Amino acid sequence: MIAAIRPTERKDLPALANFLVRVYKFDSTGHHADTKLLEWKYLCPRPSWKGSRSYVLEKDGRIVAHCGVCPVTFQLPSGDALESITMTDWAADSSIPGVGVMLYRKLMAMAPTSFVIGGAPVTRQIVPRIGFRQVGEAATYSAWLRPWREFLVRPLVGRSFARLLHGWTHPVRIREELSRPWVYTRVTEFDDSLQPILNHAKRSWTTCQRTLADLNYLLKCPHLEMMGFLLQRQSEIAGYFLVGKSEWEARLLDIFIDSEDVNDWKSAYGAVTKAIQRDPEVCRIRVQATLPILRQALISNGYWCQCREPLFIYDPSRALERAFPVAFQLFDGDAGY
Ligand SMILES: CC(C)(COP(=O)(O)OP(=O)(O)OC[C@H]1O[C@@H](n2cnc3c(N)ncnc32)[C@H](O)[C@@H]1OP(=O)(O)O)[C@@H](O)C(=O)NCCC(=O)NCCS
Repeated sequence: MIAAIRPTERKDLPALANFLVRVYKFDSTGHHADTKLLEWKYLCPRPSWKGSRSYVLEKDGRIVAHCGVCPVTFQLPSGDALESITMTDWAADSSIPGVGVMLYRKLMAMAPTSFVIGGAPVTRQIVPRIGFRQVGEAATYSAWLRPWREFLVRPLVGRSFARLLHGWTHPVRIREELSRPWVYTRVTEFDDSLQPILNHAKRSWTTCQRTLADLNYLLKCPHLEMMGFLLQRQSEIAGYFLVGKSEWEARLLDIFIDSEDVNDWKSAYGAVTKAIQRDPEVCRIRVQATLPILRQALISNGYWCQCREPLFIYDPSRALERAFPVAFQLFDGDAGY
């Protein structure tokens, strides 16, 4: 018999990890199956979601489907806020057809809107059939810092030589004149000094709201070496960024500055690049950008577009009709950890 959907509890994490390893064919020693990561992702309290952010469907006491949620609040240019979710670690036992979609639909009902950035080929096939529509693309940009080191530290495969050549011919530009007015300071935790920036996050584009609790939650991600920075312009706090390092790669998980001027964004990404470059182990930086102004700022810093992925939205009440583009970051999903 198939039981009701229930929230995942701490005691379920080993069984959930095994289930994900089996369905996704992950390496059982890899980080996806690490119960510490699952605990942080789904059970560490977040003010924007009550209780567990992971749900399972069981049959005869065995997990047969799983889906996690990552909550996001859209801050619309009108000033209105709207709750949304994106699903993570969606998996189902193939011996019970449709059980995955059944669970997904239940989760879609938990917020007024849902979104998908990219997703596996199967997800891209399924979501348009259950009410999602494509509303644009999310681009991933990268910057080469140490292509030779990346060549040496990553396993040698056919693509390694092409990667190295691309790295040598597309070096990142550290443009002092771009980043000069901006100073970055590393912090171990974000405090009230950032609150005015978070409070005044109203933009002419839609942003994903952040609270101090969100940023400090992200700093605790157990899989990455997390680094938080404040950005200052003329001694005033003007923004922040968070970077997660995984071996040879750094990921810009979140960035916000109190400006709509492309030159300020160029300076901010210049400061990000300088801060990350100081770590001699980092070979490459990965960033997500969904707004033309951010793409322009990245390109002027020598970042190149690594891939584009479709962006789907489920918005039955059409509340997001005029909301796009939305400034999604890697933090708005689990593509960064
Ligand atoms: C995605 C997933 C959870 C869906 O679970 P499910 O609802 O139980 O899956 P089903 O096998 O019953 O497929 C549901 C529908 O998707 C279709 N589908 C399944 N696999 C597909 C694939 N690889 N490509 C395209 N369509 C596919 C099925 O034909 C079915 O369509 P139908 O309703 O018209 O018959 C499950 O396929 C899975 O665990 N996949 C591996 C993990 C994964 O890639 N997750 C997505 C991460 S973003």
